[in-house]
Amino acid sequence: MTQPLSIVVLSTDLDNFKEIRAALTKDSRVQLLAGGDDAEQLHGEIIRLKPAAAIIALGSNPDQAIRLIKKLNSEAPTTALISAGRNASSDLLLQSLRAGAREFLQLPVRAEELKTVLDRIVEFCEAQTGAPKKKGRMIAVFSSKGGCGTSFIATNLAVATGARTVLVDLNLQAGDLPLFLGVNPKYSFAEMAENRARLDNALITSFVTPYSSNLSLLAAPKEADSADEIEPEHVFEVLQRLRESYDYVVLDPQHTFDSITLAALDQSDQIVLILSLDIPSIRSTQRALEIFDRLGYPRQKVRIVVNRWSKQVDLDLRQVEKFLGEPVIGYVPSDYQTAVTSINLGQPLVQSDPNSKIALEIKRIARTLSGGAIKIEENVQPRRTVWDSLFKRQSAQNQFKLQASMEKF
Ligand SMILES: Nc1ncnc2c1ncn2[C@@H]1O[C@H](COP(=O)(O)OP(=O)(O)OP(=O)(O)O)[C@@H](O)[C@H]1O
Ligand SMILES: [Mg+2]
Repeated sequence: MTQPLSIVVLSTDLDNFKEIRAALTKDSRVQLLAGGDDAEQLHGEIIRLKPAAAIIALGSNPDQAIRLIKKLNSEAPTTALISAGRNASSDLLLQSLRAGAREFLQLPVRAEELKTVLDRIVEFCEAQTGAPKKKGRMIAVFSSKGGCGTSFIATNLAVATGARTVLVDLNLQAGDLPLFLGVNPKYSFAEMAENRARLDNALITSFVTPYSSNLSLLAAPKEADSADEIEPEHVFEVLQRLRESYDYVVLDPQHTFDSITLAALDQSDQIVLILSLDIPSIRSTQRALEIFDRLGYPRQKVRIVVNRWSKQVDLDLRQVEKFLGEPVIGYVPSDYQTAVTSINLGQPLVQSDPNSKIALEIKRIARTLSGGAIKIEENVQPRRTVWDSLFKRQSAQNQFKLQASMEKF
């Protein structure tokens, strides 16, 4: 790179400012354009000067710093935003990444770390002039209740994309996705997180476990100890890199709203919310929708899918939709023997039995989620799907049953 690396520094704390400035001047690539503690003035300078990077210290007024990062992220997209801090909590760090910071610089500045950050800014600047970075689609398959079949559906959905896809096991303490795919991973999320600062396509490929030419698995760590060391911001960063390498990133998160799950859900383009047709599951789906509302997720980000649907379930589906305030976009039929055999053999149904009712419905859901971009193979003869006949089956007499059951809670 022949162009100097133009940088603006904002810090409300004078000592932090001096320290960052002193460290930057030691690198011959750097040209310091402006600096100071006046956020408003520096905001104007950044818009005018379009520097390669802006280093924003979180300091004593972190909320203001986060707001500025968020603003600059949309107003100055060609400037790499770097948050910096001393003793910043992981929560604050994550907030800054969510707001749009590409890197975090730990204070006091360590020469080696600063060099890595500056190298990344150089890469960012080069990418600005080259082709835009690819951004694969991220789909989280989520249920706030265990045992609803999220892992089963996530695995089959990942196969159904038919494009370059990575399936990520975010149940970091006790992931079981290798069983669903019949693979034996050598590496896991732990290695990916440890090496997150230098993840390129080659390194990513070496840490994932291939299932087919299109699909790979990023497994959860085998030992709980290494899972403990994975922080939400590591998850955030790893997922960012994965979506630059794959067309689809399919996530199987935990069934709680812990900070790792939230880091994943925040980043997802779509959340497929899985439920079964029993009152506790419907109730917990409603609660999850309320939490998503509070988190500010737009409703079109969330798609509801019923698993283990059977015509024997005596619930009016329109009442369920009315209760949830959202349409159900898919009904995966209940077929325990088929589902459990496919899991026990480690062979996802979409591949091993593509004409089974479960596989047909999951492929239809995949196509709906992709807005039609995912094609169902021509040789598959669509049977009459669950969807075709679903609403016709409902009897008038169970019309008010759900409402009555819900009122009990
Ligand atoms: N459509 C289906 N019909 C019948 N059984 C199913 C169906 N989908 C999943 N199952 C069964 O439900 C069980 C739980 O599935 P799975 O492990 O995918 O759920 P989960 O939500 O990921 O659970 P966990 O709480 O362990 O994460 C499995 O035994 C599976 O065979
Ligand atoms: Mg699971």
